[in-house]
Amino acid sequence: MRIGLLTGGGDCPGLNAVIRAVVRKGSDEYGDELLGFHDGWRGVLEGSFEPLTIDSTRGILPRGGTILRSSRTNPYKRDNGVQQVRDTMREYDVDGLIAIGGEDTLGAGNRLFNDGIAVIGVPKTIDNDLGATDVTFGFDTALHVATEAVDRLHTTAESHNRILVVEVMGRHAGWIALHSGVAGGADVILIPELPFDIDEVCDRLRHRHARGRYFSIVVAAEGAVPKEGTAMTLATTALDEFGHPRLGGIGAQLEKEIESRTGYETRATVLGHVQRGGSPTPFDRVLATRFGLAAIDAAHNDGWGKMASLRSTEIELVPLAEAVAELKTVPVEEYERYGALFG
Ligand code: F6P
Repeated sequence: MRIGLLTGGGDCPGLNAVIRAVVRKGSDEYGDELLGFHDGWRGVLEGSFEPLTIDSTRGILPRGGTILRSSRTNPYKRDNGVQQVRDTMREYDVDGLIAIGGEDTLGAGNRLFNDGIAVIGVPKTIDNDLGATDVTFGFDTALHVATEAVDRLHTTAESHNRILVVEVMGRHAGWIALHSGVAGGADVILIPELPFDIDEVCDRLRHRHARGRYFSIVVAAEGAVPKEGTAMTLATTALDEFGHPRLGGIGAQLEKEIESRTGYETRATVLGHVQRGGSPTPFDRVLATRFGLAAIDAAHNDGWGKMASLRSTEIELVPLAEAVAELKTVPVEEYERYGALFG
């Protein structure tokens, strides 16, 4: 078979491990030809690709990022986008595509599948917010980075009697914030799923300080939002092709609000893209490799329209439609479970 690969959306550690696994098994066991499309769906729309071979993918397993590069191109936002995808596949004799991505890339993949194009999905995102899989690769690495940062900030917060606010990624889902906050012993954790009241946040910090503590750590997901009608509002920004605003800035706003309301010296740190860069953890390398092997097997077993998924310890194939139907956000009970540890 001739199979195309693409990596779309925000990159994450482990993408190269998937590419390597697909190429190894596809070439060696199935005699496939693999084409790597550049910059996500853009490469498919524009016929921009490179041949992928065992030689050209050697040594990429521990490398962060993606050798195919990525973009947030949406084929459904381009004139004749679907026809362009069909044309590229016909012109280069591509039997099907393995799309490695999150909600947007796989959402487009699912629509393309419904429009008659053979697509298999592999779930990636540091946000861990894709449905129909227990976890996405990239999350574990991002969590390690964020937890290490919280640990480091703890010691300096303590030395300087400060409140340190850590802004982590997580547009719609607070998995990184919740888990790094719990793992790092944060005093306040703010997630997009539960809009916060700045007065309550400040009361909690005052209460903690009244009990003799002289520093605090606040972990905030970049998508955390104040409750409607409370005394804090957020600035709005332009949208990308999938309709998402560019986030960031909640840390700086919290710094200002907390300091002015409580009088405690407060500083913010934005972890940003540090969480997406660098080498994947062993967990992510293994998970990405397992997903890649499952995806190439699926291509040879009529698994089009499906996505590789981790269910408990097993890799299964689930309908792409199921994976993109609903975001996997943090359930309120899951957040509340840790309530006794805050403050
Ligand atoms: O989707 C993953 C993610 O890292 C989000 O957590 C974040 O909001 C977004 O990507 C940032 O995207 P960009 O790299 O385009 O700024």
